[in-house]
Amino acid sequence: MSDSPLRRLYVEHAPRAPEGRFSLDALAGGKGPLELDIGFGRGQSLLERAEAAPGSRIIGIEVRTKWAYRVQQRLTANGVSNVQVLCGDAREILKRAGPEGIVEKVSLHFPDPWWKKRHHKRRVVGEPLLVELRRLMRPGGELLIQTDVEDRADLYLAELRAIEGFTLAGDGGFVDENPFSARSNRERRALEDGLPVWRILAIRNAG
Ligand SMILES: C[S@@+](CC[C@H](N)C(=O)[O-])C[C@H]1O[C@@H](n2cnc3c(N)ncnc32)[C@H](O)[C@@H]1O
Repeated sequence: MSDSPLRRLYVEHAPRAPEGRFSLDALAGGKGPLELDIGFGRGQSLLERAEAAPGSRIIGIEVRTKWAYRVQQRLTANGVSNVQVLCGDAREILKRAGPEGIVEKVSLHFPDPWWKKRHHKRRVVGEPLLVELRRLMRPGGELLIQTDVEDRADLYLAELRAIEGFTLAGDGGFVDENPFSARSNRERRALEDGLPVWRILAIRNAG
């Protein structure tokens, strides 16, 4: 089956990370705190964060070419200059990224839409990603993971406890509000639908 022209457009033009080892600092250019938004989907959190933190340099990573392409187009159309989109699997991209201790904040808004057991391998929040985040985050840096699924929240907490290197903030790891003043599409929908949202905030330890 051949790809549709639209799909080809997304695949060919979605912005990609450099090949091999690369520097997030050089990629983002300029100065200012460096932030990651992993799995930004339709991209509302990127737009809101760019506005809330104009001095920050934000790198969004999204595996779906359609959203990486379309969100980059939307950011350009809106004149947003402090966000850079990368298309690909965050686990693979961040393994190649440096330097250590450069990242101040990480957002994972409602990651992991997969429920079937055979799809567990696809889950982005797990040891491989958390190990890279631990390496890339500066001491005192903040990692926010939000979900509307209680079991997932428990799983993410267990994974954070297991890898060490992070201190859980708030009440047993949960905070009441999104501390980054940027809501994702999914968070907006959950709030509109009156669904509970579990928000985990973890602080990167020193050393
Ligand atoms: C349920 S959606 C949430 C989208 C958005 N963060 C929100 O809250 O509206 C999960 C998103 O994570 C992306 N994603 C899943 N695994 C990923 C990975 N390994 N690397 C990058 N993005 C990933 C999916 O393509 C999808 O856009």
